[in-house]
Order: sequence, then C-alpha cells, then structure tokens
Amino acid sequence: MKAILLAGGQGSRLRPLTLNTPKPIVPIFDRPFLRYQIELLKQVPEIDEIVLSLNYQPKRIEEVFGDGSSLGVQIRYVVEPQPLGTGGAIKFAAGSKPSGPVVVFNGDVLTSVDLQAVLALHRERNARATIVLTPVTNPSAYGLVETDTEANIKAFLEKPSADQITCDTINAGIYVIEGETLDRIPDDTNYSIERGYFPSLIERHETFVAYTYRGYWIDIGTREKYQQVHTDIMTGTFVASPFDKAPGTAVISPDVRIEPGVVIEGPCFIDAGTVIKEGAHVGPLSVIGANCHIGEGARISGSILWPHTWVDRHATLGPLVAGRHCQFGRNVDVGGSALLGDNSVVTDFSRL
Ligand code: GDD
Ligand code: MG
Repeated sequence: MKAILLAGGQGSRLRPLTLNTPKPIVPIFDRPFLRYQIELLKQVPEIDEIVLSLNYQPKRIEEVFGDGSSLGVQIRYVVEPQPLGTGGAIKFAAGSKPSGPVVVFNGDVLTSVDLQAVLALHRERNARATIVLTPVTNPSAYGLVETDTEANIKAFLEKPSADQITCDTINAGIYVIEGETLDRIPDDTNYSIERGYFPSLIERHETFVAYTYRGYWIDIGTREKYQQVHTDIMTGTFVASPFDKAPGTAVISPDVRIEPGVVIEGPCFIDAGTVIKEGAHVGPLSVIGANCHIGEGARISGSILWPHTWVDRHATLGPLVAGRHCQFGRNVDVGGSALLGDNSVVTDFSRL
C-alpha cells in the first residue's frame, strides 16, 4: 500500500525559518519534522512505499531522506511542475489508475493516532474515504467536519467563518482514500481536496466515514505551534524521541562541552558539538542545536536555537526562535517574540 505525504506547501506562516528549510524538514530537536510521520507510518506493515509529494525546494528534502533506506522505508519523490493544491497533488502522486486504499498525510501534522485502527474502520465500513478528526477549541483555521451518530460525515467546510462553526471536530489531515475515487479530480489542475473532493463525496451520498481521535494532534504550521511541539515532547505531553526515555529531563548529547559553573535546568535539549562556557545558564524548555557556542555568563531562557549559532558572553535570550548560523553579540537582550532567519546578526549590546 502506498502512503502519500503532502509536503509541497511553502510554509509561509513559518517564514523566515522556511526560506532555506522547507516546512517538512524544519528541525524538531535534532531531526527533520517528517521523520516523526515516517516513524508513525512504519507501524503499518502493509505500507511498502512512501511517496513524498513535493513542490517547494524539493532537492533539500530529497537530500535529507534519500531513498529512505536509513529509516528502513522506501521513499519515492514526486515533484509537481507547479503547485497543484492538495487534491491535484494527491492525484499527481497516486499515478495513473490507482486502485485500493491509499493513506494520505498532510506533511505538517504530528500525532500518535493508531493508523491500523483507522484502516480497520475504513475496511469494516467499506468506505470510499475515511478521515481522521480531532477536536480543537477554534476550528476556524481548519476544515470543520460534522458527523452523525454512526460516524458518517455530513458536512465538510474548509476554513469556516465564526457563524458557520457548528461543532468542534476538524479534519486532522490524515485520510484513507480508495484510489478509484480520485478520478473526479482533474489532471494537472490546481484542486483542493478539502473544497472539492470531500464535499463531492457528501453530495454523491458515498460512504465517507470519520475516525475521531482524542489523543495528541498538532499542526506545526505556525511559530506558536512549532514551539508548542518542542514543549510537548520535552514535558512528555507527547511521548517521542529524543525525550521518550526521560521526559522532563535535560537531554544533553555526550559530545557537548560544559565548563565549570554552568547551570542547566531541564527539560531542555543540547545537541552534539555545542560548547557552554563558564557561568552560562540554560533554562527550562531551551533547545540548543548542534555546534552552537553559548558564551560566558549568557542566559538562555526557553530559546530554540538551530545549529551553528554563536551567543556571545553575557547575552540574554528569551523564548525566541533563531535559524542556523545566527550571531548574538555580547550583552544583547533579545525577547521571546523574536523570530530570526538563518545568518541573522544581533550586534553587541542590542536590545530586541
Ligand atoms: N505537493 C503539494 N502541492 N503539497 C501541498 C500543496 C501543493 O500545491 N499545498 C499544500 N500542500 C501541503 C502542505 O505542505 C501541507 O503539508 C498540507 O498540504 C496542508 O496544507 P496547509 O497549507 O498546511 O493547509 P492548512 O493547515 O491550512 O489546512 C489543512 O490542514 C488542516 C489540518 O492541519 C486542511 O487539510 C484542513 O482541512 C485541515 O484541518
Ligand atoms: Mg497545515
């Protein structure tokens, strides 16, 4: 069985981080985001091919995963000539005359849903399509999905306005679709699965079923959610590597050099090759990527620093997010709302 990961979006809400790093491979601790999804797909032995549907900076994604063998899976890449939207991209990636069930994932959701159970429901109900739903407090940024008491989907409304919100369950971006039903999607045309294909199943009275999941689910598409994922994994709200063995602790690579007088408070993460100089303080929820330098007496409080960042002595950093190769000068004071792209330079004594 094929699994298609939709990973072609531009990640515009995560700019500037996504200018050089497409959203599917933004780092979560020391790993590219999609690795978590690939690990979830591995739970289904029937899935023998993972197709990454790409559009934005495909080469960078291919370089990271290669043929998938290092992760024990088989990965194929399909690159659209121009963005085809979620539906057009699925049709393009599924190839000609697809048949049988295909698993589809939005490439920016993280969850611990039991995919085997979703497939079992799909088969038991002999559904044309089955989608995973999750409850959220504000459905307006998602696809609102109404169901009846038998879990049949009665309405699908993408990005509803406030007066259209009738329930709290939304499309979690995980589907099982019968390949034959993709014939209604036009070839080589920008087409939204949410606005076109799903409503058409309802209009045609086809068997369209919901699997409601109340466990962990998040879409990492915004900066707030990107930080939230880190917090959730560090605190054990979502049990996942590299904190699965010891949530709530300081996870420090053995290859980190820590000088005397340093204070490190968990939960936090410090990756290989990083140096923490004398008297520095690394506070809870900080994430320091590989090969960073944290200067003497610097204070890192909940910051997420991507690899190769230099923090000079006595700098103070709040819960900001900074891309690769950033430089923070000495005695800078940078607050938590800062979001800095790769190679940003904050000069000595600056306040942001
Ligand atoms: N290949 C390809 N081509 N992928 C695309 C394209 C495209 O033209 N457009 C979007 N994608 C990918 C994105 O990379 C992302 O992984 C996924 O499709 C969904 O796009 P988003 O832009 O993240 O959509 P959203 O978050 O606003 O809404 C979607 O996800 C919600 C759940 O997070 C919808 O599916 C909603 O209904 C859903 O609730
Ligand atoms: Mg999204």
